[in-house]
Amino acid sequence: MDHEGAADRDRVRDQYDEAAALFEEGMARMALYHRHCQDPVIFDALGDVEGKALLDLACGNGFYTRRFRSECGADPVVGVDLAPMLIEQAQSIESAEPLGIEYQVGDVTTLDLARRFGVVTAIHLLHYLPGEQAIEAALRKIFDALEPKGRFVTMIANPDFDLARHDPEDSKEKFGYYFSAAEPGNGGIMAFHPGGFDKDREMTFELFRWERGFIDGIARRVGLEPEWRDPFIGAAGVAEHGATFFANYLANPQSKLLLMTKS
Ligand SMILES: C[S@@+](CC[C@H](N)C(=O)[O-])C[C@H]1O[C@@H](n2cnc3c(N)ncnc32)[C@H](O)[C@@H]1O
Repeated sequence: MDHEGAADRDRVRDQYDEAAALFEEGMARMALYHRHCQDPVIFDALGDVEGKALLDLACGNGFYTRRFRSECGADPVVGVDLAPMLIEQAQSIESAEPLGIEYQVGDVTTLDLARRFGVVTAIHLLHYLPGEQAIEAALRKIFDALEPKGRFVTMIANPDFDLARHDPEDSKEKFGYYFSAAEPGNGGIMAFHPGGFDKDREMTFELFRWERGFIDGIARRVGLEPEWRDPFIGAAGVAEHGATFFANYLANPQSKLLLMTKS
């Protein structure tokens, strides 16, 4: 299944623009998920980025972009996102509490960057790109943006996610999101609902399930060596909630960490 086309890109941009008003609330509802289920694997893969130039693609309102600067010491830091409303939010947060981050509206498949970066991040991107052509275009841009031996750290929809093993109520209550659809096969549509809002304020994002072999083939074609990592719960999460709290999630996580290294 392939879904190439500008219409897909425009649909994603409009959805995120429309969701901008709810974005912060959605992130707040997912705070526990971010802190205990997603942050540990991201920050572990990121390694030491102190003083390194970092480009955060699909940066949204700068939630991770700001942390890569303030908690990890990356410098300089540039954030890019397709949705103008989210970049506007990121810029107003930056104006209120300056960290020296530069933001720009841009599509990762057509980016034009003069600067090179030691690290490129994209916390959820590839499952929004509509097919092989767009993914290859994005990975070529990322390859070009990276310095030699540079690392691309991204979260991607878990290709093995199984809707039958997903408990929507448990996930919504604990982690602030749930899935209502997850078609099998490469390019299958997954319906993701972040925020756990009341029905009339619920958001729906359609993601594409991209299988490992498909992504790995494109990555190697452009010169990036992929490594998939399972999410894990940090010590603070286990201490605060106990290991069984996360058992359902860990048995069938929504996302995997994908690290790609430029040779
Ligand atoms: C789930 S949000 C993640 C935001 C941020 N990384 C975070 O974790 O808070 C996905 C983001 O990808 C952006 N996006 C989707 N397709 C894109 C593209 N082709 N180029 C740049 N950004 C894109 C959307 O606008 C949206 O802000």
